[in-house]
This record gives sequence, C-alpha cells and structure tokens, in this order.
Amino acid sequence: MGYADDLRAAFAAQPFLLAPMAGVTDAPYRLMCRAHGATWAYSEMVSVAGLAYNGEKTWDLVMPDAREPQLCVQLFGTKPEQFAAAVEAVQERVGAKLTLIDINMACPVRKVAGKGEGSALMRAPERAEAIVRAAVQRAQVPVTVKMRIGYTAAERTAPDFAARMEAAGAAAVAVHGRTASQMYTGTADWSIIDEVAARVGVPVIGSGDVFCAQDAVRMLTETAASAVFCARGTYGNPWIFEDALSLLRTGEEPRPHGFEERLEAFRQHLGLLEEAGAHMVRARTFAAWYLKGLPEAAAWRRRATACVSAEDFRALVSDLGKASETWVVAGGKVIDTRAAGL
Ligand SMILES: Cc1cc2nc3c(=O)[nH]c(=O)nc-3n(C[C@H](O)[C@H](O)[C@H](O)COP(=O)(O)O)c2cc1C
Repeated sequence: MGYADDLRAAFAAQPFLLAPMAGVTDAPYRLMCRAHGATWAYSEMVSVAGLAYNGEKTWDLVMPDAREPQLCVQLFGTKPEQFAAAVEAVQERVGAKLTLIDINMACPVRKVAGKGEGSALMRAPERAEAIVRAAVQRAQVPVTVKMRIGYTAAERTAPDFAARMEAAGAAAVAVHGRTASQMYTGTADWSIIDEVAARVGVPVIGSGDVFCAQDAVRMLTETAASAVFCARGTYGNPWIFEDALSLLRTGEEPRPHGFEERLEAFRQHLGLLEEAGAHMVRARTFAAWYLKGLPEAAAWRRRATACVSAEDFRALVSDLGKASETWVVAGGKVIDTRAAGL
C-alpha cells in the first residue's frame, strides 16, 4: 500500500499530531509544540489560488522555519489544476522537509465554503475526486484529505466520501466529528471515526474535542483512529504531545504544568515570534491562553491586548514574573498571597 503503510508506521511512533489551524499554527507555534513532542505538525491552510498568484504572504504560510525537521502542508481551493500547480510549487520550495500534502475539505467558514472550497467539497464529490487525482498525479509525497461528518446532520456522508477519496488516491483521511453547519458548536461525535475507518483501508486521523492529553489517548484507544489531531487542546498547552505519549506508553497521568513553566513557555513563544519577524500583535491571542487561570487573569489579558511591540510584551512578562513571586498553588489553583498590584 506504500504511502498508507508509511503513514501508519509513523503514527505508531507518535500518533499525536499538531492539527492545521488558520491564524494559529505558524512556525513559532509549531516550534513550541515540537519542543514538547509534536513530531508532525501542519501548516495553516494555504490557498492554492493565493499560491497561483505567487503572493509572498501566502508563501510565508508554507515555508518551514530552518529549525523544523518536517512539515505537513494543508492546501485549500476548488480548482484541480491549481492544486496540481500548487503541489509542484510547494514540493519545489519546501523540498525534503515536506512530509505530506493535506487537502482541506473541512473548513466551514462562509468565506471558504461559500466559494465551493473547504467543507463545500463534501457536497461536490466529483470535484473533490478530481482535486485529489490532480494532486496525487504531481505529488512525490502522500496526499491526504481532511473532512467533517458531512455538510449538515442530514448528510452523514463522510464514510462514502472517504472511500471515494481513497479510491482517488488519498493515503490517509482525517475526520472532524462535527458537521460543517455545526461549525464548532456542540460536542464532537467520535463514532464517525469508526464509521469512516470501516470503509477505508488507509489510516484515519481523528479530530474533535481533544482538549487534554487524556482526551487524546481516549480517542486513540477507544476509536479506530490511527492518529489524533491536537487542535484547541494545544492552546497554552504545548506539553499535550509529550503528556499524551507518556500516558499512552506508561499509563502515567500527566503532571500539572505550573505557572512558572507556563510563564516560561509564554516568554519562549514571544521570543520565537519576534525572531520570525512576525507582527507582535499576533501574540495577543496566545497570551490569553498562557494566562488562563492565573491570578487576575482578566486584567493581565487586557494588558496583553494593549501590547503592540516586542518591548510591550517583554515588559508584560517581566511584570508577570514579579507578580508571580507571591503566587502559590493551592487546591490545584494558582492564588495570590497578596492583593495583586497591576
Ligand atoms: C482557530 C482554528 C483554526 C482552524 N483552522 C483550520 C485549518 O486551517 N484547516 C483545518 O483543516 N482545520 C482547521 N481547524 C480545525 C482543527 O484542525 C480541528 O479539526 C478542530 O478544531 C477540532 O478539534 P478540537 O475540537 O480538538 O479543537 C481550525 C480550528 C480552529 C479552532
């Protein structure tokens, strides 16, 4: 089976993957996760039309950092010929670090699905097949497809759709246990993972509501998934990968990551973003995640939201360091032994 077997073997070694997340999984974010056990990480979704226009901004989403050993690149679009050209161009520019190309047939947002891209492809299986065939024809790496349960609850099409994508040449499929019309509401239905796995011979990557290492291990052991996507569960928690792997291998419950460790991770993440030459305002998003649950978190978050430059963020981290001198952990919570003076 070639690529499918290669993927299965890779997943057996580290089944917990950093999922593609637009606006989140840039190189600094991936480096943080890789430092804590994410062997495989995905890019943000990249528009094949954007690549066709050779936009440097679009290419920024594709190119791995020099310190990254590999990258899975996710593409979205609607035209098979643009996918074919994008696959060639991505292979050429990324080179040996390119592990696989994933095709997004899962994104529910109107800006994407409204144009026939992302999850809308689940309602256009012939086009979806043509896209996979076009990509596979040019690819020297595995081509995979990420999908949802279906477009609406009345269209539980993922099992059939996955079988068609496999027939078109997909070497693995990923399924997020929500319908497109659900967006991110409700709870993920993991039974779709088994339904898809029953219909395909290629490995299935499960996704949906993996919020902690325990969830990741549960999805892997209680469903037919060969691998698990860690998405929102990585927010402020880059340790999820090593924690899940250790829980899986040894049964050892992950140790809590204290505020010192979290503040240090925040500082490191800021450093990586600054080195990347990115707009520092991007840090506002992950700042809120690292600050969650800390004393006066809302006030610190407000302060992070007002930060613009690297200096602003450095001052924030320094003040957090000072404030944390009077923090202690009690009953699993971080509390301030003195009234916080912000
Ligand atoms: C902010 C955000 C951006 C996302 N962007 C993408 C994307 O670009 N491509 C994709 O296939 N899925 C994307 N997803 C979906 C995730 O990969 C994942 O399937 C989904 O969040 C369900 O997993 P979770 O409930 O464990 O977070 C995104 C999710 C979030 C929260």
